[in-house]
Amino acid sequence: MSKLTQSPAWLALQAKAEELRPQRVVELFARDEDRPARFSRDAVGLHLDFSKQKIDAETVELLLRLVDQQHLVEWRHKLFSGEIVNTTEGRAAGHMALRAPETAVMPINGVNVVPVVHAELDRLNAFAARVRSGQWSGHSGKKITDVVNIGIGGSDLGPHMACVALDSFADGPHAHFVSNVDAAQLTALLEKLDPDTTLFIVTSKTFTTQETMANAHAARRWFLRSAPESAVPKHFVAVSTSRAEVAKFGIHAENTFGFWEWVGGRYSLWSAVGLPILIAIGPERFRQFLNGARAMDEHFRTAPWISNMPVLMAMLGVWNNNFLGCTTQCIAPYSQRLVHITAWLQQLEMESNGKGVDREGHKVDYATTPALWGDVGTNGQHAFFQMLHQGPAIHAVDFILPIQAEHDLADQHQMLIANCFAQSAAMMRGKTADEVREELIGRGLKGDALEAAIPHRVFTGDRPSNTLLLSTVDPYHLGALLALYEHRTFVQSVVWNINPFDQWGVELGKQLAQHVLMAMSGKDTPLDGSTRSLLKRIS
Ligand code: F6P
Repeated sequence: MSKLTQSPAWLALQAKAEELRPQRVVELFARDEDRPARFSRDAVGLHLDFSKQKIDAETVELLLRLVDQQHLVEWRHKLFSGEIVNTTEGRAAGHMALRAPETAVMPINGVNVVPVVHAELDRLNAFAARVRSGQWSGHSGKKITDVVNIGIGGSDLGPHMACVALDSFADGPHAHFVSNVDAAQLTALLEKLDPDTTLFIVTSKTFTTQETMANAHAARRWFLRSAPESAVPKHFVAVSTSRAEVAKFGIHAENTFGFWEWVGGRYSLWSAVGLPILIAIGPERFRQFLNGARAMDEHFRTAPWISNMPVLMAMLGVWNNNFLGCTTQCIAPYSQRLVHITAWLQQLEMESNGKGVDREGHKVDYATTPALWGDVGTNGQHAFFQMLHQGPAIHAVDFILPIQAEHDLADQHQMLIANCFAQSAAMMRGKTADEVREELIGRGLKGDALEAAIPHRVFTGDRPSNTLLLSTVDPYHLGALLALYEHRTFVQSVVWNINPFDQWGVELGKQLAQHVLMAMSGKDTPLDGSTRSLLKRIS
């Protein structure tokens, strides 16, 4: 048994879960009229309603006791003061420095990094402004119309998600994203592009990632079919922490934008990795994006636990996951603009907290990250919501809804809002057998047919959800929303005593892919029987 699961705060929460399990959330509402006010918070233009969670006031107190027991104050201090929190790689995690204003002081290993961050941001702003204005043109003098980001994981998911989210603010060249080593993605895109007006951004923290390098080389070959080698610098720039690897690829130092080893891949969209966003929306709006995240950093750093949105959200996640047995977390953004946020969150949360050993290397005996999944509303309602409403397992849901639409089809936005609120209400209240019976009798059903129909139409309800409202999907509020989830992930890692900043679990598959490739080219390499048989099948 781990220290955590034997700790007083943990045991008290277990007892609380036993007490609340038989109680329905609708009953808790009936007993406490102040519930919506008691269980909602505002921060940085976001409103979190968690009144539909299976909690009472004491649950929140106990969850915050667990936060204290796990030393969140100390860990937050370590994070913000640039200490080595990623112990297995000996690194700080300094993504908050990327959104700090010029006047701020954010030390990493004792050195204030804000000046270097801003020096690089100035270079990025100047480059983006030149591309946007046409001052930076293609080799034949034509203005850049299309920007293709080639990267994967954190070097793709963040900028891709943000470019789609902020598309209504975009007034620069079109942004495209290529990540998959399945060249179907790259080739389909290239067919539509004109090499003379296309700029490739090759984005990779390490600049050795197999998929990215393969796509970058293929893109260069495509480009050279219609342009001389000397034209490459006008059409290929790089974003990386490794200038040496970039130079090997042949991209000039002046066309290379850097970031630092203390920026984790999945926390990197605020750095040069955000260049596609910057080119699409321009420096001014990119600054607003950073400012929104910065405001959330300040909220997380200073607000007392009881009003601290990332802390409360994290602890509600822990409550559902570790005490009420929800093994998955569904993300349901009621916003087409946020269609890619789930993919970004999957990497953020599952690569960060999908760990089976604690900081000391001991196997954990409690659940860590839940599986995270989802899709936009209302689409999800016509696909997987059936399971959320009536499946035997209970899943936690985050509904995310912008209050203002950025289009003028107001009636459709009203429908979107109505559907979002209706789904969370249905998940909470459910529908009893008596209610179903009455409804069916009203429709003329009786006898055996009535009795047979009832169980299929019953909803148990009591399915927990958060509703997160943001005024609109604009740069500032998107920045705040993403930083909220980043800090939620960090808080959960502290509770679970795991390192959220490494990702050793991705290495084995990478190594084995090399072995399989070797075997495919006829080299003798040790492989298991199943893989050997699959290889035989395709040869
Ligand atoms: O394999 C996982 C990973 O290392 C992620 O953590 C990272 O975001 C992604 O690959 C891409 O890495 P890079 O930016 O170095 O190409």
